[in-house]
Amino acid sequence: MPIAKISPSMLSSDFANLAAEAKRMTKNGADWLHLDVMDGHFVPNLTLGAPIIQAIRPHTEAYFDCHMMVSNPSQWVDDIAKAGGQMYTFHIEATKEPLALIQQIHDAGMQAGVAIKPGTSTDSVIGAVAEQADMILVMTVEPGFGGQRFMAQCMPKVKQLRELYPNLDIEVDGGLAMETIDVSAEAGANVIVAGTGIFKAEDPAKVISIFRNKVNEAQKQWLN
Ligand code: DX5
Ligand code: ZN
Repeated sequence: MPIAKISPSMLSSDFANLAAEAKRMTKNGADWLHLDVMDGHFVPNLTLGAPIIQAIRPHTEAYFDCHMMVSNPSQWVDDIAKAGGQMYTFHIEATKEPLALIQQIHDAGMQAGVAIKPGTSTDSVIGAVAEQADMILVMTVEPGFGGQRFMAQCMPKVKQLRELYPNLDIEVDGGLAMETIDVSAEAGANVIVAGTGIFKAEDPAKVISIFRNKVNEAQKQWLN
């Protein structure tokens, strides 16, 4: 049974204090840290890249969940691996050769995640891609910015993937908060990314622990 992994998105952190923010999140119970890499081309925004990830690396033992919103995902595999990235999640919309890219990521010593935007069908990942990937990320907002509204219409995609792949890590990203965790957990997501929902919460530890309990409770329905 896939267990809950809570992955606060550093996009909502105080960028002037990244090391302290990373530590604050692990202290609050985060398992992973979600690092949003944007190239201003695949999405209309710029954030951080390998040098910043490398700078945060010595300050935390958290698992680095790198979400690559970039037009040429194969270009950054080595840099992110050297910087200490552990999950390299690329967008299926950005590559014609997902299987070769998954292999490249594995060869670089990282796990491979595959992300689909809200308008992208699960058909693009069902089969060999989902079988070789370590995680599928079902975006619940259009990638590019934090603080957007959760798109509940993406939940059937999560449910379909969970039914097909009971052991796969399935991540949701965008608009996750107290109001949207229940439908996400019920649909079968076990990796929960939240920027605003955790960083701006009055008590992030409480939010993280509630997310974890709800996910682990919901995952029991797929036990046979
Ligand atoms: C958006 C990023 C998200 C973002 C989520 O493109 O992929 O990781 O930080 O932010 P919230 O949780 O505020 O919607
Ligand atoms: Zn993200």
